[in-house]
Amino acid sequence: MQMNLQARHALVTGGGTGVGSAIALALAEAGAAVTITGRREAPLRETAASHKNISWAVADVTDADELRAVFSSSAADRGRVTIAIANAGVAESQPFGRLTGEQWQQTIDVNLTGVFNTFQCALEPMLAAGWGRMIAIASVAGLKGSAYVSAYCAAKHGVVGLTRALAEELQPKGITVNAICPGYTQTPMLDRTLDNIMQKTGMSREQAAAALLKGSPTGKFVQPSEIADLVVRLCTDEAGPTTGAAIAMPEGIA
Ligand SMILES: NC(=O)c1ccc[n+]([C@@H]2O[C@H](COP(=O)([O-])OP(=O)(O)OC[C@H]3O[C@@H](n4cnc5c(N)ncnc54)[C@H](OP(=O)(O)O)[C@@H]3O)[C@@H](O)[C@H]2O)c1
Repeated sequence: MQMNLQARHALVTGGGTGVGSAIALALAEAGAAVTITGRREAPLRETAASHKNISWAVADVTDADELRAVFSSSAADRGRVTIAIANAGVAESQPFGRLTGEQWQQTIDVNLTGVFNTFQCALEPMLAAGWGRMIAIASVAGLKGSAYVSAYCAAKHGVVGLTRALAEELQPKGITVNAICPGYTQTPMLDRTLDNIMQKTGMSREQAAAALLKGSPTGKFVQPSEIADLVVRLCTDEAGPTTGAAIAMPEGIA
């Protein structure tokens, strides 16, 4: 299948690092104009320097007004956004009894309300175009439970629910809505998780990695480029019939 997204403008939240950066590059290589957002300038600049099609703007996904301003300013330069990748996320682990209300709220704000804000900003331009692709980077934690990440699991289950509901609502408008649900993926977020396990348990990095990979069907961490390839496929015209899917990666993990 030819992946030609030349007439498209995609916005990727959390596009400066990890999965978001890989998605931005893959969409740019497929010909799309790509706008990446995040809170820190330095990683955004670095990813934008990797391809001429990538531009960047600072925006916090929990601030709907800030995000909306980027959707409209980038549309003025590069056409309306018809591909929205809600990728920004944070993960913290804590036994439920020690999880504070503030940590709970912050996790829900970024991982769930951030997706709500991104998709709401994208709705109007997609309706105007009569075509759209909304993709959330959820997690396997959106499909099954896991100890010590109750807030993250709740937020990611919420993302999957939002995706399924919106898919039903927007199918008649030519807009598809899908969620990708990866297991542990080789990114800065995984590095922080490994550091945390090593610090709390005294395990070596190899032992911590083996503990995380226990039960994985492949025995390997997902690579950001694998997620990015799937995103590009979901953005093609040929992927039009696929909507409301919550796609586990690797297959069989949930
Ligand atoms: N790595 C894994 O094992 C794994 C597994 C399953 C799912 N995921 C999901 O994959 C997505 C990407 O994570 P990653 O692994 O690539 O980790 P990462 O490298 O830490 O990327 C997260 C990105 O989100 C951005 N971000 C965080 N809070 C934000 C906010 N309030 N507003 C805007 N941007 C914000 C960060 O940039 P700034 O800090 O500059 O804002 C960063 O670029 C997340 O949704 C994560 O939950 C990851």
